[in-house]
Amino acid sequence: MSGLIPQDFIDDLIARADIVEVVGRRVPLKKAGREFKACCPFHDEKTPSFTVSPGKGFYHCFGCGAHGTAIGFLMEFDHMSFVEAIESLAGSMGVEVPRSESDKPARRYDELFSLMDTVAKHWQSAMKDTPAAVAYLKERGIDGATAKRFGIGYAADGWSNVLDKFGQSPEATERLLATGLIIRKDNGQHYDRFRDRIMFPIRDTRGRTIGFGGRIMGDGEPKYLNSPETVLFHKGRELYGLFEARKALRQIEQLVVVEGYMDVVALARHGIDFAVATLGTATTSEHLNNLFRLTENVHFCFDGDRAGKAAAWRALENALPQIREGRQIRFVFLPDGHDPDSFVNEHGADGFVDALDNGVALSEFLIEELASQVDMETVDGRARLAELARPLVHKIPTGVYRELLIESLAAAVGLTAPKLEKMIAGGAARTRDTTGRFAGADRKRRPPPGTGKPSVVRHAITIILNHPEAGQNLDAARLAGVNRPGADLLRALIETVHCEPNITTAGLLERWRQDEQGRHLGKLAAAVLPLDEEFDPAAELRECLDQLALAGRKERIDFLIEKQRLSGLSDDEKSELRALN
Ligand code: CTP
Ligand code: MN
Repeated sequence: MSGLIPQDFIDDLIARADIVEVVGRRVPLKKAGREFKACCPFHDEKTPSFTVSPGKGFYHCFGCGAHGTAIGFLMEFDHMSFVEAIESLAGSMGVEVPRSESDKPARRYDELFSLMDTVAKHWQSAMKDTPAAVAYLKERGIDGATAKRFGIGYAADGWSNVLDKFGQSPEATERLLATGLIIRKDNGQHYDRFRDRIMFPIRDTRGRTIGFGGRIMGDGEPKYLNSPETVLFHKGRELYGLFEARKALRQIEQLVVVEGYMDVVALARHGIDFAVATLGTATTSEHLNNLFRLTENVHFCFDGDRAGKAAAWRALENALPQIREGRQIRFVFLPDGHDPDSFVNEHGADGFVDALDNGVALSEFLIEELASQVDMETVDGRARLAELARPLVHKIPTGVYRELLIESLAAAVGLTAPKLEKMIAGGAARTRDTTGRFAGADRKRRPPPGTGKPSVVRHAITIILNHPEAGQNLDAARLAGVNRPGADLLRALIETVHCEPNITTAGLLERWRQDEQGRHLGKLAAAVLPLDEEFDPAAELRECLDQLALAGRKERIDFLIEKQRLSGLSDDEKSELRALN
């Protein structure tokens, strides 16, 4: 099962897959012009706003914003993992999924993985020779066996311990840089990122070290220093302790999500092997996907303070779309001033398990939290509560759970469930957005005044997504000096369609699946562009690029002139300026 699936296989699969067939087998579709329509399977509606576009290989709901490719649909609708969806799709088309274990990129990653592993081992053995580090762990209640199990180590003080030991050749130095173990200075020299810190290796589900968290001993800033995002390490995806939990447990009955490295380790020390931590980030839907793949029973355990409540609320919002029958999501708030580490050290494993048992269900937390924001004594306040609940309820897939939540909400606001349901359904937010505004991230944020029209970059991205072939003969290098938001993405899209002339809209979306910006692309791919014959996507794109290149040139000229005024120009810069003018 292991090994990367080659990207060109995915491109090809997506290009050949018949999205109408894939969706149509699960949801009855009606033809409407060039597209197909249905009532959205991901939210509750009476008039169809769910659209499947065979041309783009893509579905989109104008009601709830759900969108994706055939792969995405299988993942959402049938709750498959990415790999399962590819296998299912390939299977239904009678092709086998190749695994490119010997692929070049995979091999390159192997070298990085083994470097991480070597450095982790080096720090682990350095721990044994550093009495102060051992004493620190002891003082925090961590015994040798637990330290060993989590591979905890010590990075000695000094600017070049790792660099000198593991960066002997230029290639080795590049690898250290690529894994974030060293930092490059402006003058081209390097130094160790982690100095005089207790080191926690962060491992992926296969047990390979992909990053580190380093804690300072005693006081000092920053308390924790983490590896940066690298090709191996994506904070929004990984959970600290998940590998160790899976290794310790034959069957995972439940998982509890906590905030810190030390929380996970301290709980494990007390025999609670099922704790995992997000890495200084909010709980993302990717985290939740990973959790629910392993168990139906997830607890979130946060501090009782305001920051803990806020973190819990973020987790709740991201969990709503993943609520299913059988899944249990509970929230546990520890007494003020405690985190799981301090709590388990004071009250022991039994005390912690009791606290877990006393957690509140998601629905309860949701209603209590909203109720605390309004005046429940007044009719207005209760109406406001229903209003606040509406967008949240809409995120929950239809089903028994949603019905039950609506019933509880109805009881809280003093309405009958059908009445409340009607209220909630009636005002479903229409989020159709034909300009393709980058709205996915935060709908409430208005564009700054004077920017009512979509930006040139956004317009160009929209065109290239909808008509990938139109970007084939463009020169991405023309965007080199352009510094606008999204310009890098546009350049990458142009490069991709250049290398893959047959790629489809859906193929592009799949390529950006793992990317933070991928979410925005789905919205833009659903934008409605003019259908008339006048509209020539290739010409329009070229025009966008002309505009951007011109603006980029102007900016560069301004920059150079300003620099000339302030500090003078180098010879290269002088001739550049002459050439630009
Ligand atoms: N964190 C971080 N960078 C910081 C502070 C915190 O990345 N400067 C992340 C770490 O993953 C840390 C988690 O947020 O484990 C929780 O932070 P905090 O509650 O401050 O630390 P504790 O886990 O309580 O750490 P300790 O008990 O060692 O003080
Ligand atoms: Mn702590």
